[in-house]
Amino acid sequence: MGLFDLFSKKKPELTADLRERIRRSFEEAAADEEHFPSTINPRILHVRVLVETFGDLNGKRVLDAGCGKGRFARALLAEYPAAKFCGMDLAVAMLRHVQEPLWPTAGSLTQLPFQTGAFDAAYATESLEHAVDIEAAVAELCRVVKPGGAIVVIDKNKDHWGRFETPEWERWFGQQELEKMLRRHCREVTSRPISYWEDVDPDGLFLVWIARK
Ligand SMILES: C[S@@+](CC[C@H](N)C(=O)[O-])C[C@H]1O[C@@H](n2cnc3c(N)ncnc32)[C@H](O)[C@@H]1O
Repeated sequence: MGLFDLFSKKKPELTADLRERIRRSFEEAAADEEHFPSTINPRILHVRVLVETFGDLNGKRVLDAGCGKGRFARALLAEYPAAKFCGMDLAVAMLRHVQEPLWPTAGSLTQLPFQTGAFDAAYATESLEHAVDIEAAVAELCRVVKPGGAIVVIDKNKDHWGRFETPEWERWFGQQELEKMLRRHCREVTSRPISYWEDVDPDGLFLVWIARK
């Protein structure tokens, strides 16, 4: 449960001021390679679940929503060199790492700068937790994917809230809570705990939600 929920039952509002504070915080965070890395081991299950869910992406358009430095898109591109990956993020300093043949785009999760059905698939890894207006961000993620396309969200489980220090706007999600939001836009939704490595049982911190539009 985030601070917003503790002190107010009102839906948190992504005001221009809050959006600007979030953006500035990630512009600065881009210099912190330790906590915001530009690479990821492609054998990590967070990457494998995207590969397995999406299947052959060659010739397809894929959105990495809240891409940071684009580490997931680069790992997927190495497996599907003929796919077109758009890395979208609020912070321009993050996007400096997202270079050709990736397609960097500045924008907000709650108002994606793309046409409806522009992508064959989309994913958001540890970015939805910063979107504040989660329902709007989920609706947008689903809107920009074609019917039949897959949407994957990897994020933290609210049952583990408090495990790390978090900025005031961050929210973690209940497994059913996010399933319910995705079901408003998608015909099939599943979710499960996920660990980093095949031989390590999930400790429940990370969940993966897989939706088919
Ligand atoms: C923890 S990082 C994760 C980055 C990347 N998905 C990864 O796993 O490496 C969160 C990212 O979400 C971006 N972000 C936060 N709020 C956003 C928003 N409203 N719209 C777009 N991007 C946002 C931040 O700038 C940051 O790059």
